[in-house]
Amino acid sequence: MGATCPKMLFTSHSNNSNRIMAIFSETELKEFAELQKRYGAPGASLLPVLWHIQEKRGWIDEAAMEEAAAICQVPKAHVRGVVEFYTMFFDKPMGKYHVQVCTNVSCMLRGGEKLLAEMKSKIGVENLATTPDGMFSIEEVECMGACGGAPMMAVNETFFETITNEEAHGVIDHIRAKNEIPTPRFVAQMPELSEAANR
Ligand code: FES
Repeated sequence: MGATCPKMLFTSHSNNSNRIMAIFSETELKEFAELQKRYGAPGASLLPVLWHIQEKRGWIDEAAMEEAAAICQVPKAHVRGVVEFYTMFFDKPMGKYHVQVCTNVSCMLRGGEKLLAEMKSKIGVENLATTPDGMFSIEEVECMGACGGAPMMAVNETFFETITNEEAHGVIDHIRAKNEIPTPRFVAQMPELSEAANR
């Protein structure tokens, strides 16, 4: 039996297939097809499909939600619910460096709210806003699963655990000066991980 053509995975939704084919490249369709093979049911691949879209476009707009719904064969309302539930998905453009500060219980007890206030002041924007140059945005988030490292702050996918206010200022200063996210302190203390992070 020959390999499944990516197009074939989407032709059962003929109303959407032409539009999807016009939006995504052949390479992207192959990637989605691979994902859907790995996840079994089309709907089960929704999270990686959304992540793929966000990585390519920076955020997930209404049209992208429709595309994801068609690809994963789920209602658009379901896609919207997923995008709104997970803080890792953005339904509007955010900064190149998206700073997330946790203020849930563990982090709150260890200074998360003060850290958030410091970062808002440092970056110069309020919650869920982006700086005029598009470099930074900030978001107050609920538990990011790193409670043992409270208080924690994340910049894009890099987590800074047990971070002090002074260190957080240093992270922003480093990004402003070098246009890159610094290696988190706790990673730098572990040689094997530090090596991997710097590769
Ligand atoms: S409470 Fe902050 S990471 Fe869990």
